[in-house]
Amino acid sequence: MLPLFNKKMKKNILIIGGGGREHAIAIALKKSPDVGKLYAIPGNAGMSEICECHSNITAMKLDKIIDFIASHPDIYLTMVAPDDPLAAGLVDKLNAKGFRAFGPSQLAAEIESSKVFSKGFMARHNIPTARYEAFDNFDLALAYIKDHPLPLVIKADGLALGKGVSICNTLVEAEAALKNTMQDLAFGSAGRSVVIEEFLTGFEVSVLAFCDGETVVPMVSASDYKRAHNGDAGLNTGGMGTISPSPSYTNDMAKIAMETIFLPTVKEMKSEGREFKGVLYFGLIICDGVPKVIEYNARFGDPETQVILPRLKTDLLEVFDACIDGTLDKINLQWEDNATVCVCLASGGYPLNYNKGEEISIGNNLDKDITIYHAGTAIDKNGKLVTNGGRVLNVVATAENLVTARSIAYANISKVYFKNMHYRTDIGLNR
Ligand code: AMP
Ligand code: GLY
Repeated sequence: MLPLFNKKMKKNILIIGGGGREHAIAIALKKSPDVGKLYAIPGNAGMSEICECHSNITAMKLDKIIDFIASHPDIYLTMVAPDDPLAAGLVDKLNAKGFRAFGPSQLAAEIESSKVFSKGFMARHNIPTARYEAFDNFDLALAYIKDHPLPLVIKADGLALGKGVSICNTLVEAEAALKNTMQDLAFGSAGRSVVIEEFLTGFEVSVLAFCDGETVVPMVSASDYKRAHNGDAGLNTGGMGTISPSPSYTNDMAKIAMETIFLPTVKEMKSEGREFKGVLYFGLIICDGVPKVIEYNARFGDPETQVILPRLKTDLLEVFDACIDGTLDKINLQWEDNATVCVCLASGGYPLNYNKGEEISIGNNLDKDITIYHAGTAIDKNGKLVTNGGRVLNVVATAENLVTARSIAYANISKVYFKNMHYRTDIGLNR
């Protein structure tokens, strides 16, 4: 059972996850006067400076996480950041044990973990999105692509690390993508079903929102640079950089999105018995001024969080509590009137094969407006900071506007080095 916490006690928090997003969440929580000790499972080398990291447990070891919390009665709240444990029902399991947790239930998280569900949901409630058809039969899907105008977008139903989407300009590409997804199961069982969508043109913007089941409060906007190389070329990645705000997203668009997308989504998730509590991420595309949903995520985005949370003035723990307790309508979210740019420093080869264990050096002369969030880092057996993933570090600059933030970010990257480091040089441009 949850121990009793009184208002005066500092609150200890466990963060599930170990990327740049979780490091940004940890730093934002640490600003709260009410936050005491932070724990992380598994965490990373950067997080270990402010969190007690338990890297021997991973985010999908749900039973071990429950045992850990049971043996740490000082933990007030567990914040579940990544998609996989949310989709696997970690929040439900924690609640069933009487542990307080931030994040959507398994049923609510299906808005991200099943594109067949989310597209059907939008169709049922007239939420604007690309026209589509869903298939679990390869031959029927094949017949559909032969009969519909190109380009077509083929998406694996389930979670696929952002890689399950193929934009197909020719029939040959579309057939290959279908075979790869549905028959060769390149994304595992996530690709047993697919949705096939019309291709939309417009600019994309990410709007994350806090939700308490009824109230939805959008955060400041962000833009993600998803492709591996400059000029939006190369393979899709988890995100090579972000900026906030998104310069093209106007107040008028935000108003339309609120009325036609954000409010109906939260209302109808509740009406379908999938009350959404946590962070709901709206991946939007603006087509001739009309916002449409490209995708929903049931969590903070990565690397969107790294540019959004540094701009938040309100106490993040207060917001988490309000989402859980259904009191979000009482919170007045406050943001800095500034801009942030995040450049991801990735391992050479990412998003395909890359080396781990390369030594990282970070100069001690970084500008004061720079925060480095660790994504894939570890401390090796000799005590050295080394690479431990595809996206290694996020260099985030804060300034009064995007142009200045961009130049500060790039000026400081020259002070960071690891072998085969690669990054885009156009983050902050062309959005
Ligand atoms: P998703 O994982 O669904 O966000 O898709 C990954 C990326 O594919 C998006 O950020 C878009 O750039 C692109 N995309 C997905 N669906 C569409 C669509 N219907 N039309 C155009 N581009 C799309
Ligand atoms: N940056 C996109 C995501 O978090 O899914």
